[in-house]
Amino acid sequence: MASLWSGLLFQTAKHWIAGESYEDALNRAARSNGHKIQGIVNLLGEEITARDDASAATQEYLEILKIIAIRKIQSCISIKPTQLGLGIDSTFFEENLGIVVSTAKSLNNFVWMDMEGSTYTAETVDSYLELIRKFDNVGLAVQAYLKRSEEDANKILDLKGKIRLCKGAYNESPEIAFKKRADISRNYSKLMRVIFERGRGFAIATHDERLIHEAITLSNVHHADFEFEMLMGIRDKRKMGLAQMGYRVSEYIPFGKRWWAYSKRRISEHPSNIFLLARSLISG
Ligand code: FDA
Repeated sequence: MASLWSGLLFQTAKHWIAGESYEDALNRAARSNGHKIQGIVNLLGEEITARDDASAATQEYLEILKIIAIRKIQSCISIKPTQLGLGIDSTFFEENLGIVVSTAKSLNNFVWMDMEGSTYTAETVDSYLELIRKFDNVGLAVQAYLKRSEEDANKILDLKGKIRLCKGAYNESPEIAFKKRADISRNYSKLMRVIFERGRGFAIATHDERLIHEAITLSNVHHADFEFEMLMGIRDKRKMGLAQMGYRVSEYIPFGKRWWAYSKRRISEHPSNIFLLARSLISG
């Protein structure tokens, strides 16, 4: 019974994740390339507490980067800081991250750093600001719901860093974060204007139609080098439409065994996704 239930949950999760192995993710990226969409491959897992697990995640990313190069897939990778050991020891994390970014550089590839919960924001931003003194092939997610993000974005732009602007997916307190959807969107628009004025190689990571329109309007004024980024399984037709219009579009493709935490986040963001679960139960 337990395995039947977990099989049904996995069927639902497969809406947002490529599968359990990196082969699944790379196959999805190759298919998306056929629609002029680049991949951003992400191994699921965060809050890692054992050094061996962080080292294994680091090695897996190195392997993925090599296969991307050999198969000539249009895809970069996205790591989570605590997956590479930020919650264990910051020096150990920076070593792992340095290996991944330098390997990506040698293979002419790019690494995005996801932004996690606010416990890690300051350390993540500091590590990133250090890293971009040495490497230009790494970017950092900035969350529009955090009140500190305007200051962070300006520091990153001062050093010519690359920002992926997203709304933010963690449950933060009202002392440090905007909580109302309207306030988050307003801050997103404000940060987006700054990034279009000052940034290059940045990413507008949202499925929100109003913000996508705003980005298109800003891009007509600033002619900036940027891309749209969306998650696998969300607004797939819109992604293709933007790519056909000539915009650069990338799709974030998670894979791995730790798929349930990620799927729960997607369901809670958009509760109508519970119908996907119901549908797999019925057709199950
Ligand atoms: P919003 O949630 O307001 O959604 C706008 C519209 O998009 C909805 O009305 C619906 O049509 C569609 N939609 C959105 N989510 C959906 C869902 N789950 N199912 C179905 N439809 C949905 N967060 C973070 O904290 N750190 C990070 O590093 C990243 N990285 C990241 C990378 C990329 C490429 C993306 C696209 C997003 C992230 N995020 C993230 C997640 C982000 O912060 C946010 O939680 C989600 O993108 C949802 O916010 P939207 O901007 O899409 O708006």
